[in-house]
Amino acid sequence: MTDAVQTHSSSAQFTPRIFSGIQPSGNLHLGNYLGALKRFVDAQGQGMETLYCMVDLHAITVWQDPAALRHQTRELAAGFIAAGLDPAQSMLFNQSQVPEHAQLAWIFNCVARMGWMNRMTQWKDKAGKNAEKSSLGLFAYPSLMAADILIYHATHVPVGEDQKQHVELTRDIAAKFNHDYGVEFFPLPEPVIEGAATRVMSLRDGTKKMSKSDPSDASRINLTDDADAIAKKIRKAKTDPEPLPSEAKGLDERPDARNLVNIYAALAGQSVDEVLRDVGGRAFSEFKPMLADLAVDKLSPISTKMSELMAAPEEIDAILAQGAARAREIAAPILERTYDIVGFVRG
Ligand code: AMP
Ligand code: TRP
Repeated sequence: MTDAVQTHSSSAQFTPRIFSGIQPSGNLHLGNYLGALKRFVDAQGQGMETLYCMVDLHAITVWQDPAALRHQTRELAAGFIAAGLDPAQSMLFNQSQVPEHAQLAWIFNCVARMGWMNRMTQWKDKAGKNAEKSSLGLFAYPSLMAADILIYHATHVPVGEDQKQHVELTRDIAAKFNHDYGVEFFPLPEPVIEGAATRVMSLRDGTKKMSKSDPSDASRINLTDDADAIAKKIRKAKTDPEPLPSEAKGLDERPDARNLVNIYAALAGQSVDEVLRDVGGRAFSEFKPMLADLAVDKLSPISTKMSELMAAPEEIDAILAQGAARAREIAAPILERTYDIVGFVRG
């Protein structure tokens, strides 16, 4: 994570610390793995503290069946661990076990302005014409996200492009709080948004993002798919009739071909040019089995490990509870100092 090392001047006085959150909303796929889980794992052990949170409080801004929410929270935790996240190195926990997030979010609800929230693209997309019927939580969502980050004085936030606006809002909330109370208390965190290979596209349409909400299961590789299912989906993936080019430029205007090459490169840990140096000139009938082998090789240990972990949910729960306890050691004193700044009396 090279971007993560640069620190904005205004947060220079803060120890670099990475925080990211992901919603336990089910159906982890290759896009989540390459775009989020793998990046979070790669950021581990690079000298910064890392905190990764399953944001169950955010999930209930739209209706969640309680049993499904519990299952999805554990499955996401299993996905993190199976992907290589080490709970001894990173703090892995679900948001509701660290009440300081919600406590700071209330204060931020009183700092953020209605107009700021009204401008959020995700709010406009999700609420759409139904704003009157949306939960108040969905509107306040970005203020809770700001609290997630700032309750740890986190400085770096790895996210997808779609979350950039929320991290910018987090900076606005931090700046207004600091200004209103005349303090330099909260850092202005940086979004860390990485390269093109982390935008994994649908296997059925290279112009659409791979997504859990796509009705076609063939459009995505789920982390729970077995080797046969993975190989079959890749065999059927949409391509064009041309052979593979020898350099990246040759993938322009070929979204399906580019997607498969990007996936190969990301899984192999190579650059697109390195991959094309090896496979340039080959037909997809030759390249697809190579990609299928590589995908099975990298993903099937993850799905095997996930099912092993899911067979012992109480162990997952214990890991989350331990992660939450460590996270609270950072969060609690920051909340106390915030309360003092705001003028809340405490004994
Ligand atoms: P979501 O599944 O939209 O809740 O996203 C969870 C995480 O996975 C976020 O960090 C996203 O940026 C990432 N993500 C989701 N879909 C993709 C995709 N197709 N390619 C890359 N990253 C993705
Ligand atoms: N809003 C993020 C998403 O939908 C999830 C999230 C919640 C988050 N809190 C966060 C991401 C804090 C980064 C930091 O993907």
